[in-house]
Amino acid sequence: MDAFLEEFKGKNVLVTGGSRGLGKEISEWFLKCGSSVIICGRKQDNLQKAIDEFKEKGYEVSAYQVHIARSEQVKGMFESIKDQSGGIDILINNVGMNILTPSVSSVDEALWDKIIETNLKGTFIVSKEAIPIMKERGGGKIVNISSIAARRPAPGMGVYCIAKAGIEMLTKVLAFELAKEKINVNAVAPAMIRTRFSMPFWSDEGMLKEIESTIPMGRIAEPGDVVGAVLFLSSSLADFITGEVITVDGGSMLK
Ligand SMILES: NC(=O)c1ccc[n+]([C@@H]2O[C@H](COP(=O)([O-])OP(=O)(O)OC[C@H]3O[C@@H](n4cnc5c(N)ncnc54)[C@H](OP(=O)(O)O)[C@@H]3O)[C@@H](O)[C@H]2O)c1
Repeated sequence: MDAFLEEFKGKNVLVTGGSRGLGKEISEWFLKCGSSVIICGRKQDNLQKAIDEFKEKGYEVSAYQVHIARSEQVKGMFESIKDQSGGIDILINNVGMNILTPSVSSVDEALWDKIIETNLKGTFIVSKEAIPIMKERGGGKIVNISSIAARRPAPGMGVYCIAKAGIEMLTKVLAFELAKEKINVNAVAPAMIRTRFSMPFWSDEGMLKEIESTIPMGRIAEPGDVVGAVLFLSSSLADFITGEVITVDGGSMLK
């Protein structure tokens, strides 16, 4: 295990949405492994809180206030990363958002755009900027955070399901295009994780019980449950794996 984690030492890792929830947990694991971690998010106060919490634990991160679907902001971030540290070796496309919507057939066009823009277009924009840098460095790993929603319609989450399905196809298309460049592109598809994102569901005891009854392992995930799959796909153990999706769902998709 130690030898496996050792290989992340000195690697430059960008975790989008690393200021909270799953992205923060992933960032902390890379920090523990001795990687140089860069995080980004829209809100400076969230970034600062993460910087302070990491500092208390003895870690330092670089942080950028960036909306991942604003290409000029993303370009600026990569220019600065190149100047500061030469580039990145590992990209974790973790940002995701959802707004409960009535149904896809009646959803407002602006809401559709917002959900698709942040989840799908943002992942494309960040990857597009990262790829030439990884090519220059002789390869890299991209891990996209999807969801089981990509493969199963969920009530009130139709547009998010479509965006995540798009991310899984983006993963496969990029994996195919980049296979000769030694850039592996894979995804991790979790079921519900206890973060702010899904708080409306798990904070209600009745709803939580109902959700847990659909999960063979009988509980929702903690952020740490998802990290193993992300680290594996970011490592040399996964050098011959590309275009794959690892489901991390306590058996939910078996039902
Ligand atoms: N939680 C779940 O139940 C669950 C289940 C399956 C999959 N997922 C996926 O897991 C990933 C992480 O979710 P989470 O639960 O950790 O979410 P979260 O707690 O809401 O954290 C989201 C992070 O992304 C940042 N962010 C949001 N929009 C952004 C944007 N447009 N540009 C840059 N940063 C942005 C947030 O910071 P700011 O707000 O400051 O921007 C925050 O750091 C997402 O892809 C989500 O779809 C989550």
